[in-house]
Amino acid sequence: MENPAALKCFSPANFKMHSSIGVIFLLLRCFDGLVLGELHQDFSQCLDFFYKGTPPQGINSVGYQPICQRFNNQYRFASMYHRQSRAPLYSAYVISSANGKRPKSTWKYEPQLAFSQASPEMKAFNATVDQNVIESQAVPQDYSHSNYTKGHLTPSMHHNTQDDRAATFTLTNVVPQRAGSNSGPWSSLEKEVMRKFKTFCEGPMYVITGAMPYADGARWINNRVSVPEYMWSAYCCPSYAAELPRDVRPTFPAYAAVGRNDRDSGEEFVAVNPKARASVRRYDVRKMPLETLEGILAQRLAMPISLFDGQCQSLPQL
Ligand SMILES: *[C@@H]1O[C@H](CO)[C@@H](O)[C@H](O)[C@H]1NC(C)=O
Ligand SMILES: *[C@@H]1O[C@H](CO)[C@@H](O)[C@H](O)[C@H]1NC(C)=O
Repeated sequence: MENPAALKCFSPANFKMHSSIGVIFLLLRCFDGLVLGELHQDFSQCLDFFYKGTPPQGINSVGYQPICQRFNNQYRFASMYHRQSRAPLYSAYVISSANGKRPKSTWKYEPQLAFSQASPEMKAFNATVDQNVIESQAVPQDYSHSNYTKGHLTPSMHHNTQDDRAATFTLTNVVPQRAGSNSGPWSSLEKEVMRKFKTFCEGPMYVITGAMPYADGARWINNRVSVPEYMWSAYCCPSYAAELPRDVRPTFPAYAAVGRNDRDSGEEFVAVNPKARASVRRYDVRKMPLETLEGILAQRLAMPISLFDGQCQSLPQL
């Protein structure tokens, strides 16, 4: 536990100073935001972004807050936000091919995380940021001089319209990602998923992309935002071309990947290609069946997560 906010909240000094009623009050204060968030928010407004309208199952809900990502009066994708990490566990979306350019990156925040009565519509950061916003989520300053880039979970170029793309620039869709991963093997993976969608997918393709924390305790940027050791992603395309090339066949209807976000990680999940270019070396991505990813997530997050309803089994073709 290196998160200073959490330490402040739960430090033994705090407990000693309070009567038992005081302690209960203190605990209520610590969890206030979480409880309010869970009472008032779920994914019911944005189930369309999940295969069969079903969000991933098995996530122990304590500390997680679903966000239906809303921009310009429309829902654009969904994120599972973790308050203590000030970072998302995953973002879920339906991929579509981008026409036009990557938008200018105007970074946004979520007023409803800071003020329980606020609109869920994401807003652009002001020059001066409200203290409640700073407490409840990552702010651009967390990333400056951190040696990490802002790594999109759902990338802007997996969305068709300008507004859909602009909506991906919220810090609740972003984790601290090494440049060698973000502009290297992870970027290649995003392009490959898009290519698979365009070439072989004959209906919607549902994508869930997330972050995997360190096993031996969290690492933070600016002592505030949790850094993932790995990135992960999975897609589900239940209706796909009848004739698939032999090497593509195992990758439908569902497939997954895990990418390294730390050069020094061991190779238990993702092996290293010693011949890779220096700038991307040790940021390899390993492609794998959906079940393999779910096994890794179960091990690392200690949660038996099922990402897609019924493992994304497509109906037999008539
Ligand atoms: C930005 O400014 C508006 C209006 O002054 C204020 O309501 C809002 O809380 C500010 N946002 C942040 C992130 O400080
Ligand atoms: C960023 O990297 C540089 C060069 O390795 C290092 O000196 C600096 O301490 C790092 N900054 C942070 C915040 O880790």
